Amino acid sequence: MHSLLQLLIRLSFFFIFFILFFPNQTQQTTLISPVSKDKHTNLFTLSVYLKTPLRPTKLLLDLSFLFPWTVCGDTATYNSSSYHYIDCDETFCEYLGFGNPSLLCQDCYYSNLTSSHCSSPATMVCASYPANPVTNAGDVGYVLVDTLALPGLSRSTHYGQLISLSNYTFSCAPSYLVKGLPKGVTGLAALGRSKLSVQAQFGSALSTSHSLAICFPGSSKSTGVAFFGTHGPYFVFSKSNKINLSKNLTYTPLIHNPIGITYDFPISPPYNEYYIGLTSIRVNGQHVPINASLLTINKQNGFGGTKIATRTPYTLLEPSIYKAFTELFIKEASSSRFNLTVTNPVKPFKVCYSAKGLMVTNKGPKVPIIDFVLDRENVVWRIMGANSMVRVKNKKVDLWCLGFMDGGVKEKTSIVMGGKQLEENLVQFDVESNRLGFFSLLTSHHSLSCADFKVTDFAKHIK
Ligand SMILES: *[C@@H]1O[C@H](CO)[C@@H](O)[C@H](O)[C@H]1NC(C)=O
Ligand SMILES: *[C@@H]1O[C@H](CO)[C@@H](O)[C@H](O)[C@H]1NC(C)=O
Ligand SMILES: *[C@@H]1O[C@H](CO)[C@@H](O)[C@H](O)[C@H]1NC(C)=O
Ligand SMILES: *[C@@H]1O[C@H](CO)[C@@H](O)[C@H](O)[C@H]1NC(C)=O
Ligand SMILES: *[C@@H]1O[C@H](CO)[C@@H](O)[C@H](O)[C@H]1NC(C)=O
Ligand SMILES: *[C@@H]1O[C@H](CO)[C@@H](O)[C@H](O)[C@H]1NC(C)=O
Ligand SMILES: *[C@@H]1O[C@H](CO)[C@@H](O)[C@H](O)[C@H]1NC(C)=O
Repeated sequence: MHSLLQLLIRLSFFFIFFILFFPNQTQQTTLISPVSKDKHTNLFTLSVYLKTPLRPTKLLLDLSFLFPWTVCGDTATYNSSSYHYIDCDETFCEYLGFGNPSLLCQDCYYSNLTSSHCSSPATMVCASYPANPVTNAGDVGYVLVDTLALPGLSRSTHYGQLISLSNYTFSCAPSYLVKGLPKGVTGLAALGRSKLSVQAQFGSALSTSHSLAICFPGSSKSTGVAFFGTHGPYFVFSKSNKINLSKNLTYTPLIHNPIGITYDFPISPPYNEYYIGLTSIRVNGQHVPINASLLTINKQNGFGGTKIATRTPYTLLEPSIYKAFTELFIKEASSSRFNLTVTNPVKPFKVCYSAKGLMVTNKGPKVPIIDFVLDRENVVWRIMGANSMVRVKNKKVDLWCLGFMDGGVKEKTSIVMGGKQLEENLVQFDVESNRLGFFSLLTSHHSLSCADFKVTDFAKHIK
């Protein structure tokens, strides 16, 4: 008996040792970042920690650009003890300079930051061409490497330890490039499909998934979340329940655009954006008449098709689609079921209704439901009032306006799904399985929202 007890004690010591020193050996590393919505621009921001010592930093959440960038200016604005330039490697620099030969390699001495960070003042370092996807402004910037950190997801609490990426590679942009972006934003978090996206850089360094999932907040007062390094589960907290939203995702294939069309440079790398196969749009169950050739990607010039983008606060529709869509919406809204009559619109909107006549629930105002039909008739991205209508309330008016815009003739993609339509949706950008998963929290019976991931924005104080 005595020796058995001793054995048990020894065994339990062994297990305690094992648990202490080999925690979560098989568990993947999940990183989380708060996602916020800017009240003035209606654009989304992502919060991270950057530099040494680590500082909370707000970046524009972007799904299209090739690489991340941060404004540097001079050593007073870029104050970090850990950054360095990278020596010129033509293939790599050509990629970051969009093939522009004058951008390949530059003399480190002429950079604004201290030349002590160059291997020698005359070293040739990599240049790049950071651009602002909202205003299209762009300029030359050096490529830097510094430390980026995000909280890991711990099992008991929401924020775990900070996990650092010491070789975070980004472009050092001139300060004026943030013009037009939300206040407090000092750069861009590239979350497209490039190998330099934030998720790909963390994924390579930590040998975890390169997939990304984002729950977009529905208001500037709440905070959503971005998950890095995981395919799920994604747990949301409802009252005392912990709900795994992974099983509620609907999937649609991601489509490759063979031609890079984002920027007019010698090389605009393709495959960087998230295209999906929209086949029709229904309003209150009725099909919007659309010229089908607009919905496929033209293999010669890359035009057409449907993509997800956060650079626009409202979905952009090609002019003929916009016209047919708004006409059908107005007609369906005027039917006896809704009995709504348009009123004088307020810019930038074209279709508005008086708030007085509209019934509002937690799914938004009661208006015709819009369905984006993907691939087959049974894969539907449902857009309820909360995602289709925008409240415009001031001293003069109180309206609900249709939050879709005419993309104009210059927009190369026929349908650019924008911010308003992504709110309160969990969207998974699963690059490993080449598919996009989505789930509208508004369609759930549990009255959930992205705020129920219970993430607090550690960069909220930055104005
Ligand atoms: C840079 O940061 C360090 C440590 O946070 C601080 O002591 C120093 O004053 C800062 N320098 C400038 C130029 O702001
Ligand atoms: C370098 O500094 C000058 C003067 O402070 C400024 O005009 C310029 O935009 C800066 N360049 C970059 C890349 O930030
Ligand atoms: C950063 O370092 C990791 C290994 O620590 C490597 O796998 C990754 O490719 C590096 N990233 C870049 C952008 O060089
Ligand atoms: C969450 O749901 C996914 C999809 O159904 C499932 O594969 C996974 O095992 C679930 N994870 C947990 C921890 O419940
Ligand atoms: C449909 O659009 C394509 C491409 O814009 C155009 O060539 C064609 O004439 C259009 N067809 C109709 C019936 O409008
Ligand atoms: C529709 O609305 C108008 C005015 O808003 C009202 O006069 C009419 O009675 C309504 N019709 C129905 C069927 O509710
Ligand atoms: C997820 O799907 C399951 C099965 O269809 C359903 O019972 C559950 O209510 C859904 N969860 C949410 C949050 O809507």
